[in-house]
Amino acid sequence: MHLFVLISLLDLSNILVFPVDGSHWINMKVLLEELHARGHNLTVIRASTSWYIPEESPMYSSITINMTEDERFEDFFDEFLREQMRVWSYNGGSAISHFKITNLIETLLDSKYDLVLTDPAIAPGVLLARYLKLPVVLNVRWIPSGEGHLAIAPTPASYIPAPGSGLTDNMTFLQRTKNLFFYGIILFQQRFIVGPHYDVVCQKYFEGECDIISVLQEADIWLFRSDFVFDFPRPTMPNIVYIGGFQCSPAEPLPKLIISIILLQE
Ligand SMILES: *[C@@H]1O[C@H](CO)[C@@H](O)[C@H](O)[C@H]1NC(C)=O
Ligand SMILES: *[C@@H]1O[C@H](CO)[C@@H](O)[C@H](O)[C@H]1NC(C)=O
Ligand SMILES: *[C@@H]1O[C@H](CO)[C@@H](O)[C@H](O)[C@H]1NC(C)=O
Repeated sequence: MHLFVLISLLDLSNILVFPVDGSHWINMKVLLEELHARGHNLTVIRASTSWYIPEESPMYSSITINMTEDERFEDFFDEFLREQMRVWSYNGGSAISHFKITNLIETLLDSKYDLVLTDPAIAPGVLLARYLKLPVVLNVRWIPSGEGHLAIAPTPASYIPAPGSGLTDNMTFLQRTKNLFFYGIILFQQRFIVGPHYDVVCQKYFEGECDIISVLQEADIWLFRSDFVFDFPRPTMPNIVYIGGFQCSPAEPLPKLIISIILLQE
């Protein structure tokens, strides 16, 4: 499956993108610019209440989910997967642009996407991909309850500091106890606060047992926004590709004026 995803990335492909709004969009946009430059067809799913994701773009066609300002994220998942979902608008010259209102899921099935590219910080994208039975590429650092590695790689609490704990990989006994406490909070959130929302969607739309972690574990490639330059050593998995720093422009020498100012200050 991983090989298949890589091959279809080399070919020209039809990619369904389910981004997360806000600062996460900045990261996704960088990937989309590259994919667009290489000739891939992109379709971006966005909410009508989106802050930053434009409806019209030369890079992609968009599918706008009509939402009112006071609808919450949980409503969004449910709203999204419900079969009466309507496509509010398409644009960007996509083959399906003549539809104004149609059944979204049917349209998505008809569109023959090769894969879903999504940021799983909130994760409706992975649920949708499972529903459409499409391979998944994640652009990830965070999952709904914590850091991405927690879902797929072993995370020994004795030397992997929990996010937010402020600890390092060299901990005393007391610090390890504190670390366990932080992991406890993450597990608690996963089990009792965040998880149940996904469980409802899982029960409603998928056969057999599933929860958000098991759905995330099915993702084919994890493009991981981190780098061991600024992370402690830890176990990882072969389908994690570290892309930390991909948003940075290539380094260039400082202008002469700035160098003179720095030298003056010394
Ligand atoms: C989108 O939502 C607004 C506000 O609720 C409503 O007025 C409009 O008719 C909706 N459009 C569609 C296509 O459902
Ligand atoms: C991309 O979209 C165009 C226009 O809808 C279509 O003609 C073309 O076949 C698509 N390419 C791929 C690789 O799906
Ligand atoms: C871990 O920290 C202790 C003191 O806090 C220090 O003595 C020890 O050398 C450190 N070990 C490593 C591997 O850095």
